[in-house]
Amino acid sequence: MENREGWPGGRRFRMNLLQYIDSKREDHISELKEFLRIPSVSAKSDHKADVERAARWLVEKLRSAGLENVEIVPTKMHPVVYGESLRAPGKPTVLVYGHYDVQPAEPMELWTTPPFEPTVRDGSLFGRGTADDKGQVHIHLKALEALLKTHGALPINLKVMIEGEEEVGSLNLWDFVLQHRDRLKADALVVSDTAMLAKGVPSITYGLRGLNYYEIELIGPAQDLHSGVFGGAVPNPLTILAETLAKLHDRNFRVTVPGFYDDVATLSRQERKALHSLPWKEKSFRETVGAPGLCGEKDYSIVEQVWTRPTLEVNGIWGGYMGEGAKTVIPSQAHAKISTRLVPNQNPEKIAKLVERQIRKLVPKTVKLKFDVLSTGKAWVAPYTHPIFRQAIQALEAGFGKKAVFIREGGSIPFVTQMHDTFKVPCVLMGFGLPDENAHAPDEHISLENYFGGIKSVALFYEQLAKA
Ligand code: BES
Ligand code: MN
Ligand code: MN
Repeated sequence: MENREGWPGGRRFRMNLLQYIDSKREDHISELKEFLRIPSVSAKSDHKADVERAARWLVEKLRSAGLENVEIVPTKMHPVVYGESLRAPGKPTVLVYGHYDVQPAEPMELWTTPPFEPTVRDGSLFGRGTADDKGQVHIHLKALEALLKTHGALPINLKVMIEGEEEVGSLNLWDFVLQHRDRLKADALVVSDTAMLAKGVPSITYGLRGLNYYEIELIGPAQDLHSGVFGGAVPNPLTILAETLAKLHDRNFRVTVPGFYDDVATLSRQERKALHSLPWKEKSFRETVGAPGLCGEKDYSIVEQVWTRPTLEVNGIWGGYMGEGAKTVIPSQAHAKISTRLVPNQNPEKIAKLVERQIRKLVPKTVKLKFDVLSTGKAWVAPYTHPIFRQAIQALEAGFGKKAVFIREGGSIPFVTQMHDTFKVPCVLMGFGLPDENAHAPDEHISLENYFGGIKSVALFYEQLAKA
């Protein structure tokens, strides 16, 4: 491997892993920019061709990272990109998961530079997908490339699966996984689609919340009505919607749906202590949020509220007149998108029924209610006792030169839960985003320090796994 004889530049000199990564900084950034310029927005059908273009872009890069049998596997919606390298007999096999689809970029006017024209500013790369998750997928490709170029071959067995539907709930991925059950067998799952606790604190996430998503529609009069002619005698679906939604929480932001908290696991004293000893700063949290104040369930710290407690959120409300100026109208319909974040041991199907039952109870008979469950997903929390977690921590500490920690997070990655439940493999979530990098929002970015620290950590991790 490393050979310092003849340094600097003697004939027999071969760069070591970290030198190789450092030597490629500019190339890597410009290649990642290429990937980011493809607007692979999975939620929008007019971006279908872009999503496919992103998949094709990945194929070539997977091949140059040393993967074989690289293919684009079509699904009912967006394709899965898969490749493997199984040339390290006796060494561990790692399944790497990520997603190449991104969230819609709207509202466009709030971006400092356009979402699909990636730009470096203040040590970060800005653009949709930089942190979530194209930048982190690219970290893995470049880590493999570095291993390939400096070792001559990939030192462990790898299976890389990058999907195109994560941001819309991974609807078709699980079918693909079950069809290729044997092919996807691995000793561990490695995912980079989460964030570090803070800058300079490399982190492994051992818990995610689950997510149920609902849409409701209240239907009143047969069409919009003149509010002067009819107002006073006719139920207004928007007013009823507002009343209904307002009743789903109490003053302390506790969810009032009966039974909602029945199965919620309480935090052990030991875990609570561990979470509270993390270098988490309330001040940075408040700054990131940028609201005049916070609210939340009493008797729980902020970290507990966002990582370990279930919530119900209104994601959007619409109906009636929303254009310029005034229009006097009683709208015929009112709509809302609602979600619940779930924690152990809540059962998503049971929660969906409880939420529907309560909303049906609250809505008066003067309007018709349509209640749809768009998706359901369980929480994931797993112990980090398997020896691979030690190796991952060591790799992060070597890659960043900083102490690494174990954290939980409030977001959701449906595939991780399914994988862990079905295959019982250890899931190593090494995320390289930061909480204030605007995932899903305008001016999304990734810190270049974390991007390169990520490449180094992942490469060192696999090098380490090959030795153990
Ligand atoms: N990368 C995120 C998940 C995430 C975010 C994990 C923050 C940890 C911290 C992922 O792309 C995502 O956005 N997931 C969605 C759920 C999905 C079903 C649409 C989410 O959490 O809202
Ligand atoms: Mn993601
Ligand atoms: Mn996301």
